[in-house]
Amino acid sequence: MQTRELGRSGLKVSALGLGCMGISMAYGESDEVQSIEVIHHAIDHGVTFLDTAELYGSGHNEALLGRALKGRRDKVIIASKFGLRIGEKGMLPVNGTPTYLKAACDASLKALGVDCIDLYYQHRVDPRTPIEETVGAMADLVKAGKIRYLGLSEAGAATIRRAHSVHMIAAVQSEYSLWSRDIEDTVLPTCRELGIGFVAYSPFARGFLAGAISGLEQLQKPKDSRGAGTMPRYLPENFAQNKILVDNLAAYAVTKGITTAQLALAWVLARGDDVVPIPGTRRVKRVDENIGALDVDLTAMDLQALERICPLSAVAGPRYNAMAMAMAGIGL
Ligand SMILES: NC(=O)c1ccc[n+]([C@@H]2O[C@H](COP(=O)([O-])OP(=O)(O)OC[C@H]3O[C@@H](n4cnc5c(N)ncnc54)[C@H](OP(=O)(O)O)[C@@H]3O)[C@@H](O)[C@H]2O)c1
Repeated sequence: MQTRELGRSGLKVSALGLGCMGISMAYGESDEVQSIEVIHHAIDHGVTFLDTAELYGSGHNEALLGRALKGRRDKVIIASKFGLRIGEKGMLPVNGTPTYLKAACDASLKALGVDCIDLYYQHRVDPRTPIEETVGAMADLVKAGKIRYLGLSEAGAATIRRAHSVHMIAAVQSEYSLWSRDIEDTVLPTCRELGIGFVAYSPFARGFLAGAISGLEQLQKPKDSRGAGTMPRYLPENFAQNKILVDNLAAYAVTKGITTAQLALAWVLARGDDVVPIPGTRRVKRVDENIGALDVDLTAMDLQALERICPLSAVAGPRYNAMAMAMAGIGL
């Protein structure tokens, strides 16, 4: 397995991570035994970078990951996140206060069954708590030995700069794929300037770019948020247009003798050695397929062809709905 350093932080991770969110929410039901098999299979095949959050299944995901990691803790880098939670009536306001952060970290450590989290992200920037206060409290957790490295998720360039002046930020995690490239304007250049690694979440645009979604009816199942009408790119008025783009990618992948998922991942991997995608899957065979993307070399001509057959301007709908977009601090 190839490794990549997250910026100049010194933290080395497998060049491809495993996103664990889908095991506990968002894309339909999953099975505990099969999910643990997926995590074990990924680790056995060199994937050492595992991504979770207190949000995912409200603690379920961290607890399952903790069970899966019994006897394997020393082989992996655990990344978790705090500050976003679901209450009885939906998403709660982001909480980045030092008091909350400390309690959340203790809860995550307990759920994971570990005494230290390797990389701890603020899941979304809290507009009501100055970032300096939050990062100062995160630095206290480093001193206390509860976390090793700091990260921010969906933060904008100015916030990243302010945070990094308080304590080294090892990684910024935001959505990045052929269809979601808003970080290229200011976030990615700022990370590069400051030596911060970039972790690309939803590299398949939540499955679409992996080529296995043929129709919206496939998403009409319990616990699949894509079929629930809240994700713009999966709305009936946008789906058909987006499906054309994925079909174009699929046809191009065939000419290269790879799968659509591998093509989408190889594109992210080709953005730079400081970019680490964390695709999510609940299936062992897809872990292998996704790892296979590391062997794909995209030439300059391939990259140009992808811009032509899947131009960003042709993607129908934004990556999030207005409410979720307002929580992403990318512009700040
Ligand atoms: N920081 C944040 O705010 C944030 C937000 C979202 C996600 N994340 C993190 O990023 C991770 C990845 O993002 P994501 O899970 O949202 O989206 P994703 O990786 O873009 O897509 C996941 C979807 O792709 C499918 N898939 C995976 N490999 C495939 C393959 N080879 N062929 C066909 N389909 C395939 C999965 O289905 P199966 O499971 O059925 O294989 C799942 O439905 C998450 O798990 C989470 O850890 C972070």
